[in-house]
Amino acid sequence: MSDHPFPVVETKIDRTSQQYKDNYAANTDSLGQLDAALAEARAGGGEKYIKRFRERGKLLPRERVEAILDRDSYFLELCPLAGYQISGHKAGASVVAGIGLVSGVECMITASESTVKGGAINEMGALKSGRIADICEKNRLPSISMIESAGADLPNQSKIFVPGGRGFRDLTRRSKAQIPTICLVFGSSTAGGAYLPGMSDYVVMVKEQAQVYLAGPPLVKMATGEDAEHESLGGAEMHSKVSGVSDYMANDELDALRLGREIVAHLDWKKRSQPSRRPVEAPVYDPDELLGIASADIKVPFDSREVIARVVDGSRFSEFKPLYGSTLVCGWAHIHGFPVGILANNGILFSEAANKGAQFIELCNQTDIPLLFLQNITGFMVGTRYEQEGIIKNGAKLINAVSNSTVPAITIMTGASFGAGNYGMMGRAYDPRFLFTWPNHRIAVMGGKQLGGVLEIIQRQAAAKKGIEVDEQRIAVGKAMLEAQIDKESSPFFATARLWDDGIIDPRHTRDVIGISLSAAYSNRVEGTTSWGVFRH
Ligand code: COA
Repeated sequence: MSDHPFPVVETKIDRTSQQYKDNYAANTDSLGQLDAALAEARAGGGEKYIKRFRERGKLLPRERVEAILDRDSYFLELCPLAGYQISGHKAGASVVAGIGLVSGVECMITASESTVKGGAINEMGALKSGRIADICEKNRLPSISMIESAGADLPNQSKIFVPGGRGFRDLTRRSKAQIPTICLVFGSSTAGGAYLPGMSDYVVMVKEQAQVYLAGPPLVKMATGEDAEHESLGGAEMHSKVSGVSDYMANDELDALRLGREIVAHLDWKKRSQPSRRPVEAPVYDPDELLGIASADIKVPFDSREVIARVVDGSRFSEFKPLYGSTLVCGWAHIHGFPVGILANNGILFSEAANKGAQFIELCNQTDIPLLFLQNITGFMVGTRYEQEGIIKNGAKLINAVSNSTVPAITIMTGASFGAGNYGMMGRAYDPRFLFTWPNHRIAVMGGKQLGGVLEIIQRQAAAKKGIEVDEQRIAVGKAMLEAQIDKESSPFFATARLWDDGIIDPRHTRDVIGISLSAAYSNRVEGTTSWGVFRH
């Protein structure tokens, strides 16, 4: 008998219902799509380049990641589908990144995907690296970068040159903030690739394999006429014995990984916060049922308590204000022992629900409890009655609370994410520490049908004002094309390719993903605030 004081959520789902079965089938299908996309990312540059790596006796980037992790460590891969199905880009954007344990320390681990264009970075890679740097800084995670990068993707230099410089700034700023940065150089790292070790706190280079130079021999020849030779220009031995760019010379790749682990071990790393954790209890209900619960058709609502019951410890949930503002479920629970305050949509946001959410966020800040947002929101309620009730000012209260809250927040998009509902529920622009989506998720300003309909009304009104006749065929074709475009742009694959989130996850892994994210968040101080802007009453 558990001594946990929170009650267990009762389930009402019917596994034999048609809706459950349809959802299960559609979500399984979407997970198949996700697996195929992830396989594309894992394939890197493809067979030809992988073979070349093997022939040179080198580990593949993902093998380097695997080898540096502690035995049995998790690896929460981040933004694995950046660049997916964007013309001129490969899934993953030439960087592998994720959180895992090295020498017992939770670290951000990145590896150049050097089977793609020699690890050269394009604009999607720069965007992904920026997001990874942001996660390191906000959560105070030490980072280990395993570098082998041809620097800027040269034909695309115009898209990368100016924003690309940010990565070097981020590294030095983390160093100033006492968040360690460790760089292991495995291969040729030129120009921008050379500044990554240049700006890192610790540098390891692999003997007779790693080369670091501002300009390789061809560019030196062009710039100064000098006939330079790779090893004396930027080899591991030269940088370890002569220039001092390298702090340690590794005999081979495995030795570099060993040195990386040794460096992390000497950091004597301490997290800045220690949560009061409860003993971990698995949920009472099977997380597999999430596939039957999550609506494949986002127009069909589902009870977010059923999701909570399959994500939190012991399915135990202490609900706040259960009789008020029923379209936003709020309450406290534990996930992998960590305390969380949950806000979960159960329909459109009305004024009462928005006010309740703002109050709940204040309460969690009072007691330093991290927030978990389970988004499934089509927006705030519209219409004369609701405007007169002050839906704008009440929605603004929720957005104010979300914007100024200082406890870590994690957002999971479990269905719809439309309009200002995205903002009020801690969407990407509000800086949650981590944001993951389910494969049934859809995201946009509004649905394709609604957007097409709104534009049609505007076009008809404009024509009437000018006294001209509307071209029915043009309107119909335009509307159909727009609807198709919005539907395509609302897909979770479109969103994740553009870094609107940190990855699409299997709903059944939600609890573990949140557990790792919370654990990472506690690397930094977890502190609420009592300081807010003006709440309009
Ligand atoms: N931008 C775009 N593409 C690049 C690139 C870059 N910076 N560096 C390499 N590539 C491409 C190559 O053109 C080649 O493409 P292909 O297979 O379609 O022909 C592919 O990446 C692999 O390069 P390759 O030279 O065949 O591989 P390698 O393992 O023998 O050598 C490097 C890798 C990185 C040592 C070598 O490509 C190199 O020196 N690149 C230039 C680095 C540089 O000067 N960068 C300056 C950036 S400011």
